Amino acid sequence: MKKQVLLWLLSGVLFLNACQNNTIHNETTSMTFTISEKPFGQINGDTITQYTITNPQGMQVSIINYGGTVTNLLVPGRDHELGDVVLGFDSLSGYLQKANPYFGCLVGRYGNRIAKGKFILDGQAYQLTLNDHGNTLHGGVQGLDKVIWQASKPAGDSSLKLTYTSKDGDQGFPGNLVIEVVYTLSSDNALQIAYSATTDKATPVNLTNHCYFNLSAGKQNTILDHEVMLQAEKFTAVDSLLIPTGQLPDVKGTPMDFTTPKKIGAELAAVKGGYDHNWVLKRKGKDLEKIATAYDASSGRFMEVFTTEPGLQFYTGNFLDGTLKGKQQQKYQQHAGFCMETQHFPDAPNQPSFPNTIVKPGESYRSLTYYRFSVK
Ligand code: BGC
Repeated sequence: MKKQVLLWLLSGVLFLNACQNNTIHNETTSMTFTISEKPFGQINGDTITQYTITNPQGMQVSIINYGGTVTNLLVPGRDHELGDVVLGFDSLSGYLQKANPYFGCLVGRYGNRIAKGKFILDGQAYQLTLNDHGNTLHGGVQGLDKVIWQASKPAGDSSLKLTYTSKDGDQGFPGNLVIEVVYTLSSDNALQIAYSATTDKATPVNLTNHCYFNLSAGKQNTILDHEVMLQAEKFTAVDSLLIPTGQLPDVKGTPMDFTTPKKIGAELAAVKGGYDHNWVLKRKGKDLEKIATAYDASSGRFMEVFTTEPGLQFYTGNFLDGTLKGKQQQKYQQHAGFCMETQHFPDAPNQPSFPNTIVKPGESYRSLTYYRFSVK
């Protein structure tokens, strides 16, 4: 009898293995990680390159060295079809236009807002470039989203390393900041983004990525039916220009409550302008933790967000208005995509009670975020 049970178990394992091998061997997949590259246009004589990493499951991410921008993210749905789950453009000119709302790019030196672009550090006042109603948004006029990064391909074909040195005084920030961002695809369908930076003068640093996700891969014009969970019991209250007031209200009993999964559209109308807030993540410590999920029932795609950061800007594409022509001439209407920007809190350099964002010489800024995809 025991022998029979063992044989039955063994055949089950062999059967499962065979199934897995079948999926791995289908036409759209390769057995290993690969990285390819192709030209993606020119800026003042510099060639911009698009790098595409493919994992053994066939998941793909394409990144250009202009702005370190994720241009495409191909993820399987319930039907096993790969779908592109990020908004963007088909060519470089789309990304270069003034109206590009930070599609897919790296954001810094300081993601989110700094009030009036001012802060005082070690007794010295600094003035940053202003680009958002008299405030500084996403690092200023010429942030890290608008520069050309140096790209290299680490061994293993699963990563792309981007480096950039932002000079002392760039956009008004002190210190030469040497930044490194490594995008990696894992074999369990996660896109990992590892950020690090060092400086030679104390300076605020808050790096993030600005992918606009639509897990239906274009089948749904908006993300209002996506179900979202945010592991947060508080958020940073903001004024009419989205500058934090310093208060951290409870989400309980308000439209800001995503502690259990809820459709984005369920209570969005009750939030003036839509969701564009920093949630205070409820974390166990400083290690990588799962802090948010998003699910699109129409395609079955499920996204889990893991981060080491204390905050998450959940932005529901409120300023999209149908005037941008995106990939394959798609018109991105209001709420066509959502961002989950893992970060420190907005305006922290002026808010002593918020977690510290100042990096000093000899210290190393580090931040890690994963977006992991599966099907439900
Ligand atoms: C901000 C929005 C802003 C958008 C730019 C988001 O991170 O929170 O207020 O409009 O970026 O596209």
